[in-house]
Amino acid sequence: MTRRDLNRVLAAPVLAGGWLEALAESAAERDGRMKWWREARFGMFVHWGLYSGLAGTWEGKPVATRGGMEWIQQRVKSDTDTYAKRAIPLFQPKPGFARQWTRLARQAGCKYLVFTTKHHDGFALHDSKVSDYDAGSVLKRDLVKEIVDACRADGLKVGFYHSVIDWHHDQYEYARSKQLPHPLKDKPYPNVAREHGKYIDYLHGEVNELVSNYGKIDILWWDYSAVDFQGQDAWRAFDLMDKVRGRQPAVIMNNRLFRIPEAGFTGMGTSAIAAQLNPKYGDFITPEQHIPATGMPGVDWETCMTMNTTWGFSEHDHAWKSNEVLIRNLIDIASKGGNYLLNIGPKGDGSVPEESVRGMEAMGAWMKANGESIYGTSASPFEKLTFGRCTQKKAADGKTRLYLHVFDWPKDGKLTVPLSNGGKAQARLLAGGKRLGVTAGDRQVTVDVGGEAPDKIATVVELRLEGTPEVVKG
Ligand code: GLC
Repeated sequence: MTRRDLNRVLAAPVLAGGWLEALAESAAERDGRMKWWREARFGMFVHWGLYSGLAGTWEGKPVATRGGMEWIQQRVKSDTDTYAKRAIPLFQPKPGFARQWTRLARQAGCKYLVFTTKHHDGFALHDSKVSDYDAGSVLKRDLVKEIVDACRADGLKVGFYHSVIDWHHDQYEYARSKQLPHPLKDKPYPNVAREHGKYIDYLHGEVNELVSNYGKIDILWWDYSAVDFQGQDAWRAFDLMDKVRGRQPAVIMNNRLFRIPEAGFTGMGTSAIAAQLNPKYGDFITPEQHIPATGMPGVDWETCMTMNTTWGFSEHDHAWKSNEVLIRNLIDIASKGGNYLLNIGPKGDGSVPEESVRGMEAMGAWMKANGESIYGTSASPFEKLTFGRCTQKKAADGKTRLYLHVFDWPKDGKLTVPLSNGGKAQARLLAGGKRLGVTAGDRQVTVDVGGEAPDKIATVVELRLEGTPEVVKG
């Protein structure tokens, strides 16, 4: 049975539940569906919504200089009316804003773009029939369509971030979780009685519009759940995923409709992740703001990270990561077999902060010369290398290409790699192609790289090996 048949079966309401588990996707089908994503390695995240115009300022004062300003409504404990009244006049997307994002993403070497169709504040960027708290009603524009069109024009795969948490909806029963944020947390519901099921219907309604009206969607990036409120109970998560798959059979989804160990979570902290994922809870796990210490064989993962410390734009956060950190993070992640989803937080008019433009451009310049060592590679065969990192690729001729990313240039101009099968190895600088001398011993291969690092951030030395690398331990 093909995936399409499966989806037809799932779409038939009578059969849905029971068949689902029995007809799970085969490993080969799954590999096929995940292929582009595993090869892509680098994506752009975009946090943009009503909060962007507020820019981390409330009543003329900075709310903070650090931390997520897409949470500003919750940080200042504002009800939705007050928040919307202040934020809407400051949210004025310039015509054509989305092309600046997608050109930048493409130039940086990103293969996909994931953007906030709705964040926790509940304001939807599309033109929704089930909501009037949306760009269609408020701005008479469909910003999702504008962004999707821009992605297609620049050849990027499209990802929808969608928050299942919703601070504006009057049926969202926030008291059911002690752990999820809400501006009115610990206060009684203003409208006394709420029925969470009605919120879930609304959530499913908006998601249905998103996956039905914009052509092929490549990623659904859910956010997020708590240990005490998650999954089927909180969001009717399995039904939601089935509906999405019914419309978008090839879609790739993350794990954040859940927060249980089987779905890759061990607790509430952002680093409380487990290196495991039963596919029924999603396709990949989502380490946030950190790079796991080791790779996770057999688990697809993506580190999402900010360029300063906030996801949504703040005019007060100047803690920008250096180009060196950004580029080395991407390399580190690729060397462990993961993807890097790097965030920009455009301003209320949709323009990208200058510092983010510069950082992305620096990554692009590096990727232009060295992208081959990132795209389509797999994790390093070495546990640790003193000089930096390594990625690898199997070539059609059966040879292995090792990409040695040199962070610390050897003082004596000799790069040593703990390999026992370097006999016929060949080496060159990836950028520019200069051939390098190789000496092979029983326990190591030595590459003559010369005295001066061509690239102070990361120079890539390509080492072609016969067969599979035989790593010398210890
Ligand atoms: C968190 C935050 C959120 C951000 C997201 C990105 O869960 O709530 O503001 O969108 O992480 O990973």
